[in-house]
Amino acid sequence: MTGTVGIIGATDRQVEEFVRAAGMRALTVKVEDLSSPRGALAATPDVVVVDVRSDRHLLGSIAGIKRRHPSMGVAIVVPALEPELMLQAMRAGVTECVAEPLTQGALEAAIGRVMVQRASPVEGRVFAFIGAKGGVGATTVAVNFAEAIARVAGETLLVDLNIATGDAAVFLGVEPRFTVLDALENTQRLDENFFRSLVVHTSSGVDLLASAVRVLAGPIEPQRVRTLVDFAVRYYRAIVLDVPRADASALDALDAASSIFVVVNHELPTLSSAYRLVARLRQKYGSDRIWLLVNRSDKHSDISLSDIEKAVNARVKHVFPSDYKPALAAANHGQPLARSTDGRLAGSFHEFVRIITRPDRPLEDTKRMFGWLTPKRSSAE
Ligand SMILES: Nc1ncnc2c1ncn2[C@@H]1O[C@H](COP(=O)(O)OP(=O)(O)O)[C@@H](O)[C@H]1O
Ligand SMILES: [Mg+2]
Repeated sequence: MTGTVGIIGATDRQVEEFVRAAGMRALTVKVEDLSSPRGALAATPDVVVVDVRSDRHLLGSIAGIKRRHPSMGVAIVVPALEPELMLQAMRAGVTECVAEPLTQGALEAAIGRVMVQRASPVEGRVFAFIGAKGGVGATTVAVNFAEAIARVAGETLLVDLNIATGDAAVFLGVEPRFTVLDALENTQRLDENFFRSLVVHTSSGVDLLASAVRVLAGPIEPQRVRTLVDFAVRYYRAIVLDVPRADASALDALDAASSIFVVVNHELPTLSSAYRLVARLRQKYGSDRIWLLVNRSDKHSDISLSDIEKAVNARVKHVFPSDYKPALAAANHGQPLARSTDGRLAGSFHEFVRIITRPDRPLEDTKRMFGWLTPKRSSAE
């Protein structure tokens, strides 16, 4: 393997020696080198290994590193795989954990996985979410998907394409100064600084291009939406679009989307609306990237998942449980559920992201509490 591995917190040379033995460059760094704007390093590491065996407070500094370097992979070395420690690690954006007894094989395998995630973190980069009917939970799913994928992929942008009616900002608990309309009206002068000035940063690493309060005089041209998305793809690892189902311009501008998710529930009126929507999308984009997501799933419904697939003529990619109270509290507090992994609805958002980003992972792994956090394995893997 080639690349530079930054090492934080090591009290001896063991990690450094293992990294060198794996053929990689080892660089001892301090937290401030990576988390502060004044940090000056000769080379930015591709991956950071934080050794928390002698000081577990170092875990607390990882979030700061991820904020400055969202796409930098972080692996940690821990004394043991304690749930509390791993949960804290996962919240900080750590993707790999290696426990004692530390071996070169285990460390090398973990670094390798972090490298691969950096190179290809997602199946594609642009994900569109459209509700088949108002209130099915399209925005809830889009917002939580953005939260969850930001932890895996790094910098994530959520674009609320509901020009004057969107509420993603409310779900994220932010008050935007500028909006998607400013971006769409100025596609000819988009540059990185201008674009970054239009988005709102949120504490979890998701940037939002929010819906506007003012209304647009006429319809937006699909070409403007396309230009906007094509531009954003250059700066974000994942782009999540909350797409209004009644807006022809937005529906016609999804060329860059690698997956188009139509959110449905178990109700017949939603399914008949989904059928028409999917037929329209299929005509333009083919079948391969169109998927159904069943939200507020109801095991006791007369309409089963296979009925849904038949009725809409599309495949179900994932099912989210109904969990009214936490969903309501999350919306009211502007704190998306996927900021944590607690609870079955939050867990299902993380599980969905795992399926999208790591379809190769065996199911036993996914049943573990921590989705993509990889427990220690044999180096033969
Ligand atoms: N899985 C769920 N379980 C319970 N309530 C949900 C779920 N998903 C969404 N909700 C609630 O449904 C309402 C509508 O959701 P929203 O995402 O705004 O729908 P849409 O964007 O499709 O109009 C919100 O109050 C939200 O909290
Ligand atoms: Mg909505």
